[in-house]
Amino acid sequence: MASLPFTHEEYRKRQARLLELIPTDGLVLIPTNPLAIRSNDVSYPFRANSYLLYLCGWADPESVFMARHNGDSWITALFVQPRDTKAEIWEGVRVGAEGASTGWPVDSAYSITDLDKEIREIITDDTEIFTILGLNTDLDSVLEGLKTSDPRKIIDSHRRLKSKREVELMQESAAIATAAHILAIKSTFPGIGEWQIQAIIEGHFAHSHSQWSYPSIVGGGDNATILHYKSNDRVINDGDLVLVDAGCEVEGYASDITRTWPVNGKFTEPQREIYELVLKAELAGIEACQAGSVWHSMHRATSAVLAQGLIDLEILDCSVEEAIGDGGDFNGPYRNFFMHGTGHFLGLDVHDVGGGRQGDEDGGPKLQPGMVLTVEPGLYFGSWRADIEIPERYSGIGVRIEDDVLITDEGPVVLTAKCPKAIDEIEALVGSAR
Ligand code: GLY
Ligand code: MN
Ligand code: MN
Repeated sequence: MASLPFTHEEYRKRQARLLELIPTDGLVLIPTNPLAIRSNDVSYPFRANSYLLYLCGWADPESVFMARHNGDSWITALFVQPRDTKAEIWEGVRVGAEGASTGWPVDSAYSITDLDKEIREIITDDTEIFTILGLNTDLDSVLEGLKTSDPRKIIDSHRRLKSKREVELMQESAAIATAAHILAIKSTFPGIGEWQIQAIIEGHFAHSHSQWSYPSIVGGGDNATILHYKSNDRVINDGDLVLVDAGCEVEGYASDITRTWPVNGKFTEPQREIYELVLKAELAGIEACQAGSVWHSMHRATSAVLAQGLIDLEILDCSVEEAIGDGGDFNGPYRNFFMHGTGHFLGLDVHDVGGGRQGDEDGGPKLQPGMVLTVEPGLYFGSWRADIEIPERYSGIGVRIEDDVLITDEGPVVLTAKCPKAIDEIEALVGSAR
């Protein structure tokens, strides 16, 4: 029996919650992600599609989850890579259709080479097809010309509410990412390369039998003002801050932490002013994560603190209302320095499904116990900005602080609470492992 992170019962419940909203003449076909070529015959490491992981825990490439109704009940199946000695000699032993049908929470399994034949046998003129197009070209061509619907909206509304076991895995993921950040802070010194901090963080992920959930962002000085900075190839100078945004996956479940610290262990006065302001905003954002509040509450909370702070620091010269935006559109001049949302759902995808996006109507989804999200305000004063005047005092400073938060009836629970963020704690920790 394969070792899956959830009981078969939990997977079967997830399948049932989807299928009770699918008409009985429906056919559900959910393919996994395609393998992506890195060079010639070398692929990027494969990462299964989160919907497949969610519905049945199947993590191997070239596969499709299927559900159809036989008139009495739903039957679920997996199409998987067949056993193949030649391929297995190079890539490892495959589970195969027989192994999939006995070890995974499905009723039957087939070779992926039979996908075309099996599907054509099932489909009639009345079949309503629920699928995700664009992931599996073979499946797309079988379905070409047929009307299809997307089942993701239904699954997303379930995925955004985490079970007890999902929360356990996310807590584990948060603990590994927390330890990685602490190790990085302790190992930092002026002159360290951004890539070296990345290696410390990702080394800890690998050592913990984990892997990154998104490419690690390690930006020193001005690089901290690039929101999704990726090159991580500069030396960090004495006197600079470094912003590290890095998280990992446990059984597919992501963590996502950002910490910002001075490489020499001492915040300058301007760095401290911005850091304290972002921290105050982050704490207000976390406090706003209450069951029953709308999603947008936390963005309102962080925005109010940041706008007021930018005025107090004489970076903006206007009222809080004007800073946030006429009519409360959250697009006022404070946006020059805080250009992203306050957070996102977190789960099998680091930017998880289920809404909570800019532009959601009526303030977005209501927060419910079991939801996990990030709170991650920041302020960025890139010296490279040509479109606005950056105050000299703050030029080259970028600060973001990000934690992972579980919504409960008793209030927000910070899964990453052990990752230090108070100025005193951070200053005491920087370089302490050297
Ligand atoms: N690491 C990307 C984000 O924080 O959303
Ligand atoms: Mn992040
Ligand atoms: Mn994030």
